[in-house]
Amino acid sequence: MSSADMKDRGKWGSKIAFIFAASGSAIGLGNIWRFPIMVGLNGGAIFVFVYILAIFFIGFTIMLAELTIGRHTQKNPVGAFEAIKPRTPWKLVGYLGVMTGVGILSYYSVVAGWAMGYLYKTAAGVFRGEVTWELSQETFARFAASPAEILLCLFIVIGVTTLVVSGGVRGGIERFAKVLMPLLFVLIAFLAVRALTLPGAGTGISFYLRPEFEKLNTKVIFFALGQSFFSLSLGMGTMLTYGSYISKRDNLVSSAGWVCFSDTLVAFLAGIVVFPTLFATPGLHPEQFQPSIGLMFQVFPIVISKIPGGYIFGVLFFILLIVAALTSTISLLEVPTAFLIDEKKWRRKTAAVVIGVFSFVLGIPSALSVGGSQALSKFNFLGKMDLVFGNILLAAGALLICIFLVYAWGIAKALAEIASGNIRFRLKPLWVFNLKFLAPLTIIIILIFIKTITG
Ligand code: PHE
Repeated sequence: MSSADMKDRGKWGSKIAFIFAASGSAIGLGNIWRFPIMVGLNGGAIFVFVYILAIFFIGFTIMLAELTIGRHTQKNPVGAFEAIKPRTPWKLVGYLGVMTGVGILSYYSVVAGWAMGYLYKTAAGVFRGEVTWELSQETFARFAASPAEILLCLFIVIGVTTLVVSGGVRGGIERFAKVLMPLLFVLIAFLAVRALTLPGAGTGISFYLRPEFEKLNTKVIFFALGQSFFSLSLGMGTMLTYGSYISKRDNLVSSAGWVCFSDTLVAFLAGIVVFPTLFATPGLHPEQFQPSIGLMFQVFPIVISKIPGGYIFGVLFFILLIVAALTSTISLLEVPTAFLIDEKKWRRKTAAVVIGVFSFVLGIPSALSVGGSQALSKFNFLGKMDLVFGNILLAAGALLICIFLVYAWGIAKALAEIASGNIRFRLKPLWVFNLKFLAPLTIIIILIFIKTITG
């Protein structure tokens, strides 16, 4: 690393360091908790099929766009738009990202809090012995409906996230995550093998992997697209911020490719754990099945209980899941914090604490909406937050980033930025086509039909 690279804002130590950090943001509850629910709600294998296309053609396109804008401007999202198009409304796209980050952080932390509660339950031996579908359903329902425990967990998650972001000890966490994330991957792969060998796993495998094309509709496409943005941390400036720390010599194209690949692999494996296990359970039929928001928490204890030494694996799994969730909450809090520091000249600590407290308060209705409060549960508050922030606003953000790159900044300048890594960009024509036409048009059509899609 040259001395110029080490000055000021700091840079990733290497391309691998960037890939780990960006994958840390990308891989999280989106892959392990949200992805299986989306598959379950949207026709199984057909969703998986559309999702993989969405990642390849659109997710990757937006990822590379965000990294390119970030590396070029070396700024937070609001500053980046302002730097390229000063004194224009384009910086509102940055504001949109800041707002989306806070919204997602609020309910995402609730789910991360569930993981924390489950670590405690697993360690306390709740899942020792045979774990039936009834037991796991009841355990989740009872836990999610206990306000005191849930709010305490939410508080701890946001508290730890705020401490890490305000203390600027992200480097430490990332060093940690570098060891723990591959371990999470190995553990899930191991659980996937166990799930595949359960008697009766076949039904789940075909639900997950044999697409029925008559189930394809705009709703599937909408949620597959939303899930691809959510899972890859796109559409709100996270990857733009991460890109701002990449060295000019690094290859943006292959970096983007690696992050997309590892993120998709983890989600795919999580599905392999969930569906064979689920439908190997007596009495569950894919046709009548409606996944609950706690699907992952109901299914993982079952498969974990079916391996020798399950207790230890269970504890380890929830620890790793919490670490994966924290690397994502940290990246969610970092965007609004960096904005307040850079643009409003706040101190890092003040910025992180203010946003942290705000997200906690905003998270309370989500925390109480899974049984804790009847009115909020009926309204499905957490689900609504996820629909608005996790699907609609991320998609809108991704669309605006696309339009910005093509029409306000210019493809030629973006390509020059990519070329500074001195690379052969073989997919260039495809990327340009996707950026100009496929991605924006798909997102626009999906957003127009949103009312009919979501009922
Ligand atoms: N990608 C993260 C996950 O899958 C969530 C996230 C979304 C993080 C948007 C940052 C920005 O868990």
